[in-house]
Amino acid sequence: MELRNLGTFRLVRPLKARSTTHRMVLARHADDPDDLAPAYLVKILLPGQGDEYKLLRANFDHEIELLKRLNHPSIPSAHGEGEQDGARYVIMDYIDGVDLAELLGHYAEPRALSKETAVYIMGQLADALDYVHSFADVDPETERSTPLNILHRDIAPSNVLLSRTGNVLLTDFNTAYSTLLAPEHDTVHVGTRAYMAPERIVAAAPATEKTDLFAMAVVLWEILKGQRCFKAEDDLRTIDAIVRFEISHPTKRVSGLSPKLSEIVRRNLDRDPGRRYTGARQMLQRLAQAPEAAAAERSRSHLADLVAQAADNRAAAWER
Ligand SMILES: Nc1ncnc2c1ncn2[C@@H]1O[C@H](COP(=O)(O)OP(=O)(O)OP(=O)(O)O)[C@@H](O)[C@H]1O
Ligand SMILES: [Mg+2]
Repeated sequence: MELRNLGTFRLVRPLKARSTTHRMVLARHADDPDDLAPAYLVKILLPGQGDEYKLLRANFDHEIELLKRLNHPSIPSAHGEGEQDGARYVIMDYIDGVDLAELLGHYAEPRALSKETAVYIMGQLADALDYVHSFADVDPETERSTPLNILHRDIAPSNVLLSRTGNVLLTDFNTAYSTLLAPEHDTVHVGTRAYMAPERIVAAAPATEKTDLFAMAVVLWEILKGQRCFKAEDDLRTIDAIVRFEISHPTKRVSGLSPKLSEIVRRNLDRDPGRRYTGARQMLQRLAQAPEAAAAERSRSHLADLVAQAADNRAAAWER
């Protein structure tokens, strides 16, 4: 299928992205000059049929509904949406940079980032997650607000976008939950296995704010340790690793952290959801109190340098 224009946007070229279900295409606004770098990314679900498509479609429609509502500097904004020749699409900001999985070397050799950079990235994410968890629709006439109970359910490094200017964004609401999602379209077992809280695996419990916090803590652990926390050769072994995980085990400890940062990791990786923080806001507060948070601006420009380097390396590799 050859799409050239979507509404008032012109498609430029496909993004080499690792999406399993959607096409990602860079775009320009029709009025933008040709020499301007594309500023938009179109996420497209190609036409399909059958039950599997119906489910994909419902989840994508839901993602689009959420993106249209959410308005936060650490979440890509939607600039348009629609359907053309059976292809459902949403246009959002293109974040020029790399995702966190790429920066952490998850597709090659895993590596760590500094504690300060970790705290900076997680602070931005915790702020976005707190916004998402507490988001409510407000009726403009009555000013009555209705919480949407949004859960991200797939917090993982590949869904964290990093820009060349050091911005950090949470993306991929494709498997999110909210009260807008019809129960028949809600597949409970969504998410990336290696970031799934044990209660979701052992007790088949539904996702909660606490399971999002657990995934955040796995991401934090991986940034600090420069290793994969749970990922094993196959799904079964990954599940086994999650179920057996013991944060106090010497091989799992991360050394050299301030007591505050250490507490954030330990509490939110706890097997018992009751011992994790009460919500993303508490995580945000604790991150802000950690001594590693003091150099936030420096961390931001340090991250910008790392991202630019990684993005340039990737571009060079693609040209080879
Ligand atoms: N706005 C954006 N700007 C730049 N890159 C992006 C953007 N959105 C997504 N990407 C890149 O595309 C990848 C896939 O995006 P996303 O996770 O939204 O799609 P998906 O179809 O839900 O993928 P999957 O099912 O594989 O998780 C991301 O990991 C990221 O590398
Ligand atoms: Mg994704």
